[in-house]
Amino acid sequence: MEQKKETDKQAEKVIEIKGLRKSFGNFHVLKGIDLDVYKRENLVVLGKSGTGKSVLIKIIVGLLTPDSGDVKVLGQHVDQITYKELLALRLKVGFSFQNSALYDSMTVRENLEFPLIRNQKNLTKGEVNLAVEEMLDAVGLLNTINQMPSELSGGQRKRIGIARTLILRPEIVLYDEPTAGLDPITCLDINNLINEVQTRFHTSSIVITHDLTCAKSVGNRVAMLLDGQFQRVGTFEEVFNTNDERVKPFYDYNFIQ
Ligand SMILES: Nc1ncnc2c1ncn2[C@@H]1O[C@H](COP(=O)(O)OP(=O)(O)O)[C@@H](O)[C@H]1O
Ligand SMILES: [Mg+2]
Repeated sequence: MEQKKETDKQAEKVIEIKGLRKSFGNFHVLKGIDLDVYKRENLVVLGKSGTGKSVLIKIIVGLLTPDSGDVKVLGQHVDQITYKELLALRLKVGFSFQNSALYDSMTVRENLEFPLIRNQKNLTKGEVNLAVEEMLDAVGLLNTINQMPSELSGGQRKRIGIARTLILRPEIVLYDEPTAGLDPITCLDINNLINEVQTRFHTSSIVITHDLTCAKSVGNRVAMLLDGQFQRVGTFEEVFNTNDERVKPFYDYNFIQ
């Protein structure tokens, strides 16, 4: 019985990270990271600038290799699979990079078609159109389909970027600072969208942010990266209900301005 319970629990993890270390020269960025992400949860990663948050998600998608440790994504060890297997895995892991831009010379429609046509060569024109329209509708921007990115607001461009990530129907979505550079009201829209995506597409996510309103709104759990390790992982309240001198400034900065 105990054994079965353990097996079920294993099956629910979509990302399993143990003892992950990564340095650049003498600069030790990740110093033994342990982290699990469960199926259909949004896990928020918080941390100051330069603490290794983007490095972590680049390791998860195999763009950087760890120095040591174990990184398993959807049951596969990312640093032990072939390049072909890695490309197949990346189709199941959508990542929207910090500052990842749309293609300025393409319409919204063409921006969304691009990953589909490149990765799913057997789709008919009708199927591509349908997928693009469905996804634009999901992010509430079907009316922009023929516009150029330069005609859109910052918040709209973020939404289209998220739609482009989702169009391949990834099981996991990695959002790197999805609300960076947006005004507070637009941030709330993006937070709502992240929650809608989780419900509608049954995705599991890591959401990297500095923004505690975002963390509170989208995070089923929050993990705080401090000094190269996840010192605190739990609900928002569990993480911030602390006298840890390294956590408090974070909270004060966001809420007592
Ligand atoms: N490819 C790289 N080569 C050398 N240093 C890097 C590289 N990528 C990141 N770093 C360094 O690692 C640290 C963490 O970077 P990053 O993960 O981008 O921080 P953040 O938490 O702000 O996302 C930074 O100091 C950065 O300069
Ligand atoms: Mg970053």
